[in-house]
This record gives sequence, structure tokens and C-alpha cells, in this order.
Amino acid sequence: MWIAEPSVEPPPEVMETLRARAATSWYGYEIRPETATEIFWDWMLSRHRWDGSGLHTVVSPSVGTSIGVLIEQLTEPGDGVIIQPPVFTDFKTLIASSRRTPVPNALVLTDGAYRIDFDDLAIKAADPANRMLILCSPHNPVGRVWRGDELTQLVSICADNNVFVLADEIHADLVIPPHEFVPFAAAVRADDQIEWAATHGPTKTFGLAGVCDTLIVTDRATIAERFASVSSQFHLTRNNVFSLTAFEAAYRHGGAWLDDFLNLISLNVEVLANRLPDGIRLVRPEGTYLAWLDLRDLGLEVPDIPRWLASSAGLALSPGHWFGRQGAGFARMSIAAQTDTVERAAAQLAAAVDG
Ligand SMILES: Cc1ncc(COP(=O)(O)O)c(C=O)c1O
Repeated sequence: MWIAEPSVEPPPEVMETLRARAATSWYGYEIRPETATEIFWDWMLSRHRWDGSGLHTVVSPSVGTSIGVLIEQLTEPGDGVIIQPPVFTDFKTLIASSRRTPVPNALVLTDGAYRIDFDDLAIKAADPANRMLILCSPHNPVGRVWRGDELTQLVSICADNNVFVLADEIHADLVIPPHEFVPFAAAVRADDQIEWAATHGPTKTFGLAGVCDTLIVTDRATIAERFASVSSQFHLTRNNVFSLTAFEAAYRHGGAWLDDFLNLISLNVEVLANRLPDGIRLVRPEGTYLAWLDLRDLGLEVPDIPRWLASSAGLALSPGHWFGRQGAGFARMSIAAQTDTVERAAAQLAAAVDG
């Protein structure tokens, strides 16, 4: 349960189309249809009331590729890139491997919920060395779904200080009602002087990270064109016939499957909340399929936590310190599984706490 991937089957339509595609004898070059991005926008409009008119959409092999290329294009070696830990591990490694400096604007945990420290963000953004912020929205691992007012405040700080916002919205579809995904684009007003891009795709939603391409959305033609030119330089959009098939089938036919999947996640959150033993607290996720568990009351040494989870509870979870030192004493559990698996995990944790 450590990895951010569903342990349930993807939509049947996706599996059927992939099987049918595999049964053909043609695996040669195939041109990505123009309709690929239209299908994405149909999905966004119907699920999130987000209209892509006026925005530019480019295909990218992965979110990691998009982040790496945009860091390279929009910042210089030595510049600071702000992140909000505890946060998805790759952000820091992508920044560091680009010879930029990760600058923490740590989230604050109060009354069981995380919020953005806007005072600290204003200080970090005002430093001219810090040129970019990577926003994780919804947030992996703490499960926050940022509200419109939070995004507006973030836009205002970054616009005032000329900080580019790269909104990683790959978990956009994974929002637990009554929470609603607010695209970064919706928080930007026409007269805001801010540059931004957002990452999207069907990979996390449908468990297709090993198959599908992703997308970059931005309102600036120059940013889209620069990405497209590097993509052309390095052949980043070389197509995989299965990717095209799965992408289209997921966005065209995956709606009902996703509704069921989100019901399963909501149920699993309740099951976990009710069955966790004393000493382990659930930070309730508003989105993603990741449960962020606060183990600090158990009094374990941080390096011992993964060992304790494995040997005493029989569980492989992601230790919280992987996501930054702010995550020390926590663990991340993927709950994108059938409910009996989550029940079993909670029972094993309870038995381990009882010792
Ligand atoms: C927030 C976030 N961004 C990006 C990724 C990885 O995306 P990719 O495999 O397309 O690089 C993940 C994977 O868990 C993630 O949680």
C-alpha cells in the first residue's frame, strides 16, 4: 500500500480497447489524433466545469518530464524553486538534479488539517532568487484539495513577486465529495500578471501511469511553444499506440467507473478513520487516494518506523520523512484498494500497537 497507484482494475472499457488494440497486427508509427486534447477538454468540462477555451495544451510523456523541462526553461542553475512539504518526493529530486535549490514553504498542520503558510510564502516569494513554485493540487501526500480562496491568495503573492507557478494537478479527478477541484487556471483573473502551467492526464485517475501520456496546460502561447520545441528536439512525443488507445478510452468512457471508484475511496476513508487504533491518527484526505497517518504518539524513532510497520504490522507504507523532514513520524498509505484490504491493514496496525 505504499505506492500512489490503484490496486483495483482500470475501467473495463480501457482494458477491452487495449486488448483489441493488442490483437491487431499493427504496432508501427501512428499519428496522435488532434482529438486527443479535445477528449481531455470534454472530460474537464463535464467533470470539473473547466472550459479550456483560450488555453494551450501540449502532450508530455510524464509529469516528471514536464516539471524537468519547465524548470530548465524557466529558471537558471542556482535559482530557488519553492515547494510545500511534506510533498511528493520527485519535486525535490527534479529540482536538485536540475542544479536548482529546493526552497521549503512547509505546510502547517493545525487541528488535524494542513494549510499553506502564506506569511512564509510571501517571504520566500519576495526573494528574487526564488523564481518558481511547484504547487501540488490536490496535494500528495496530505490529501488537501485547495479551495478557491487559498489559490487566489497564492496567485496574488506569486504575481506580486513574479514567481512562475507550476501547478501539478495530476490528482485533479480524485476529489472526495463534497470537496471540489478548483483548477489553478480558475483562480487566475485576466488582469493578474502571473505566468503558470498545470500538469494533467489520466495516469493517476485510472491507474495508467505505465501506459499513458500526460498534458501541460497554460494560458501563454510562448510557454506551450517552448515546450513543443524541446519536445520536437528530443522526440518527446513519439507515440505509443497503447498510450493513445488507453488515453482516449479512459477519458471517453471512464466517468461511471470513476464515480464508483471515488465512492470506494470515501468508504475506505471512513473505515480507516473508525478502525485505526489509539495512537495512530488519520489526517482526513479531501482528495487523492492517499491516507496520511500520524504515528507520532507511538513514540517510535523516525528511522524505526518503516521497520516497525513491516515487521510488526506486516505493512509496506511510505514513511513520511520521504516527503520532507516535515513528514517525519507519519506514513502514507494508498487506500485505492478493495475495502477488505483497508480493513485488514487497520486490523494489523491495531494488533501491532497492542504489541
Ligand atoms: C503529485 C504527483 N505528480 C507526479 C507524479 C508522477 O507522475 P509521472 O509518473 O507522470 O512523472 C505523481 C505520482 O505519484 C504524483 O503524485
